[in-house]
Amino acid sequence: MKNLKIRLLDRLEQEFALTAGQIKRFIKDFHFQMNKGLAGEKSSLEMLPAFVDRPSGKEKGRFIALDLGGTNLRLLQLELKGSGRIEKLAERKFVLKEKYIKGKGKDLFDFIAGCIKRFVQEKGIAGTKKSDIGFTFSFPIRQASITSGVLMYWTKGFCAKGVVGKDVVGLLNRALAEKGLYNIKVAALANDTVGTLVARAYRESECDIGAIFGTGTNACYREKISRILKMKGRKTKGSHMIINTEWANFNKINTTVYDRILDKNSINPGEHILEKMISGMYLGEIARLVMLDLIKRGVLFNSKLPQALRVPRVFKTEYMSYIAADRTVGLVKTNSLLRKLGIKDSCCQDRQVVKKICNFISGRAACLSAASLAAIILKIDPDLSRRHTVAVDGTVYEKYPGFANGINACLKRIFAKKSSKIKISLTKDGSGIGAAIIAAVTDEN
Ligand code: BGC
Repeated sequence: MKNLKIRLLDRLEQEFALTAGQIKRFIKDFHFQMNKGLAGEKSSLEMLPAFVDRPSGKEKGRFIALDLGGTNLRLLQLELKGSGRIEKLAERKFVLKEKYIKGKGKDLFDFIAGCIKRFVQEKGIAGTKKSDIGFTFSFPIRQASITSGVLMYWTKGFCAKGVVGKDVVGLLNRALAEKGLYNIKVAALANDTVGTLVARAYRESECDIGAIFGTGTNACYREKISRILKMKGRKTKGSHMIINTEWANFNKINTTVYDRILDKNSINPGEHILEKMISGMYLGEIARLVMLDLIKRGVLFNSKLPQALRVPRVFKTEYMSYIAADRTVGLVKTNSLLRKLGIKDSCCQDRQVVKKICNFISGRAACLSAASLAAIILKIDPDLSRRHTVAVDGTVYEKYPGFANGINACLKRIFAKKSSKIKISLTKDGSGIGAAIIAAVTDEN
């Protein structure tokens, strides 16, 4: 029995580990998909032009930032002071109820406009003066300019009807006008990764990549316009433009049986495969599926399937974080968490197995994240001859113990000593701030 348990855990560890050869292959496939996406061919990487480049850091002015992407909607009033300095003048969070996330799109945008109205009234921003909004929208948007963008599809559990295929700026401007807010207009629309890159680049000019590791995952980077083949013939300013890779959808990856079950039972089978292996929305569910398998094989919880683990998605990624942080002898904190979930009689070995499972899964997520970042870095700078700052935000990166270190360790495996040229900077709340900066860049042009 003991041997069976060890053998099974060893097998699991191997299945969730990435060999050097697999990482190399991953990067090669990633580049292939990037090139196809840039050429406008069918690809699992959409490579969406963001119609903005890095800011100079000198942009000035007062702007409202609207950040929509999770269960909260955030509004900020910011004063950009130039020379990379920003002052937060006001901030307000609103909870986005399920009825807006999953209901009618019209209601969602009416609600957002209502929040903006309350915000400007409460903070005394309302008036006859024109106010520009930088709108961060953390979903895939196909843009034709910085002031418009069509939602390609919803992700992260959103499914408000009547929004896919529509220009979200148009929807918001209309809702604002209906509330009588004629002087408030969306001056810039950006994906959250783009906002994060821009927010960091405002004070650190070496920043050329923005990434999110949270409920969802994605990254953007600064690309030479001459290499964005699908933009050929279009009038553009400057030499570079930020590209939103939408890497969540990358799918040339070795998956385990657990990934395949998760994918099959998801609302978008076959899509967002990388996101399903990296992001906070899914890691807990992979852990639950692995636990179910080990229970069935008789090596966990005495083969008894606890009621709590029968329900899909009950085992949250934040529980994994909590278990990963448990350094107590006998894993007492893990025990109390399991008890809260209704698993009352775990033994110490069970808890160690659960912790191991969490480690394999989060370790693989960190390694895939690093491999994806490495692919982007090598695309921009094949010899890693310059320094690169990656602006990062998201709860998994910020809160999951060992996740950030896991990314760094994997970058070291890939680049050896040269990895010291890559700096990953946590850029909290960057996405909203970034959209306001983009509004300022737009204002200057
Ligand atoms: C979306 C991206 C977004 C990422 C992080 C993904 O599900 O497709 O557009 O940037 O989540 O929020």
